[in-house]
Amino acid sequence: MKTHSLLMPLDMHVHLRDGEMLQNVAKLTSYTFSGAVVMPNLVPPVKTREQVKAYRERIMFACGLGINEDEIEDFSFDEDEDEALIGGGDFEPFMTIFYDNYSEEYLEEVRDLIFGIKLYPAGITTNSEGGVKDFNLEAMRPTLEAMARMDIPLLVHGETAGFVMDREKEFMSIYELLASNFPDLKIVMEHITTKAAVDLLDKFPNLYATITVHHLLITLDDVAGGMLQPHLFCKPIAKRPEDREALLELALNAHPKVMFGSDSAPHPQHAKESCGCGAGVFTAPIALQLLCELFDKHGKLDNLQSFVSDNAQSIYGICPEFKEVVLEEKPFTVPAKYGDVVPMYAGKTIGWSIEDVL
Ligand code: NCD
Ligand code: ZN
Ligand code: ZN
Repeated sequence: MKTHSLLMPLDMHVHLRDGEMLQNVAKLTSYTFSGAVVMPNLVPPVKTREQVKAYRERIMFACGLGINEDEIEDFSFDEDEDEALIGGGDFEPFMTIFYDNYSEEYLEEVRDLIFGIKLYPAGITTNSEGGVKDFNLEAMRPTLEAMARMDIPLLVHGETAGFVMDREKEFMSIYELLASNFPDLKIVMEHITTKAAVDLLDKFPNLYATITVHHLLITLDDVAGGMLQPHLFCKPIAKRPEDREALLELALNAHPKVMFGSDSAPHPQHAKESCGCGAGVFTAPIALQLLCELFDKHGKLDNLQSFVSDNAQSIYGICPEFKEVVLEEKPFTVPAKYGDVVPMYAGKTIGWSIEDVL
């Protein structure tokens, strides 16, 4: 049977949530990924040094990795704690904070704990109410210039408040403004869904992008073309076939400025299967299997390593802990639920499965 190994897979955009949900989903990411960029859109959003530090600790515990005593000075070590929980390290949560017009001093305070800063336009997606209301470049300049000087990447949810199918396309002028005004700032267009974003990528050397697996697989037809599929509803909404084609072309050829970011965004079943369905597709436990199946189908398996790890390593200059995920071309039936969360393709059988994690 055909197998394929991936080394140090990285998920460059994931929602791990908090509380019970964090306990339920974190391990599903840390099992197959060496590291993941963790989004800060909790309630309230992650903004301060204390919040980042505490959230990182909660993530490590939820992953069963405990914490490294040497790094966290105020952790009171319990002698009876299970040995296995202490000093893990085969998964690194790359922490982010929620964008605000922070001062340089503020950024210096948090610099050592964060990987990037995530910018949300106000109210555009889940828990983004405190985001940017208007893109007044002069108001943002001190923060963005300080970020560029300090080499802190800006990760962006790029949608306007326009007509839903045009939101990402309309945001391209804001990306252009940001990229041209702050040429030393690394800007990542998160979870791109349109040909417009694909076309913009190579126009500025400081622009990068993440792509989800669901946007490589589905279009708006899969969400709303037949019976409404709440578990495929996310922001940005899946677009047209020609948009998906453009994304596929980038991903399958592992364009060097493109990285995999699942945007796995769990919501409890009742919040999805309800009037006022929350936006987010949960893919963490099946992302690598789906990617293998997709890249194999197109004869591009050899490019998957770059898309799921190597490109991110060079773009961000990271060197993840060793992990090897062995996948096999063997049918896998996606569970109906993981705890209280219904995954993408629940109950369906996909072509590849995880054989081993070393
Ligand atoms: C994300 C969430 O639920 O936090 N939802 C989504 O549809 N992608 C937020 C986001 O990434 O925009
Ligand atoms: Zn988003
Ligand atoms: Zn997201």
